[in-house]
Amino acid sequence: KMEGVMMVDLVKLIINGKEVEAPAGSTILQAAELAGIEIPRLCYDKDLSPLGACRLCVVEVKGNRLLPASCVTPVFQGMEVETESPAVVEARKTILELLIANHPLDCLTCEKAGACKLQDYCYRYGIKGSPFVGQKHAYAIDDSNPFIVRDLNKCILCGACVRACEELTGADNLSYLKRGFHRKATTAGDVDYIDSDCVFCGQCVAVCPTGALTEKTMVGQGRRWDIERVRTTCPFCGTG
Ligand code: FES
Repeated sequence: KMEGVMMVDLVKLIINGKEVEAPAGSTILQAAELAGIEIPRLCYDKDLSPLGACRLCVVEVKGNRLLPASCVTPVFQGMEVETESPAVVEARKTILELLIANHPLDCLTCEKAGACKLQDYCYRYGIKGSPFVGQKHAYAIDDSNPFIVRDLNKCILCGACVRACEELTGADNLSYLKRGFHRKATTAGDVDYIDSDCVFCGQCVAVCPTGALTEKTMVGQGRRWDIERVRTTCPFCGTG
């Protein structure tokens, strides 16, 4: 062992027919990413602890008749993974259909349109509607503060906001409430943001994959992708 050099055990596996290597202890999703293979995900964020909540990242593993969630399943030597097999695609379509069964389909005017992961994946897998008919939420929109608009009708319970609040800021303002259909990711005491301990750092908004949490300053000013900033140099003054 060389002095001062950390040795990492590597595991060899096959993803989509391609032999890849990943550090032992990696998840399938991380190993795929290292190999340039993108696995769809809604609740996974590289800066947050994995939760395995949305199941969109399911993959097929040879010898396993279940489809494990790749963001929480570690790799092992000789593992054979398929990330877009017919069974995986079918499962992802059903997951998306279940998610949008109780999701407002107002993408035409949604502030997150164009930057919404749920919309992106529905587009990718050709999901135009849901065959599942059931109850729909009718939560009031929390527009109580100058910074964040919260529309819990668009929340998919990925828990990214809860984890970001705790893990990135050390605060404890967001958590889960109730169970089943009534489950909510919300402020302590389920109050409006303005009445909570929120300091409006924006971490929860930054990680939200849908239009459940959006920046108020952007409402009506153009959607995120319309006004994305780019680094450029003015051809006249040459400074920026
Ligand atoms: Fe893996 Fe959500 S990204 S379960």
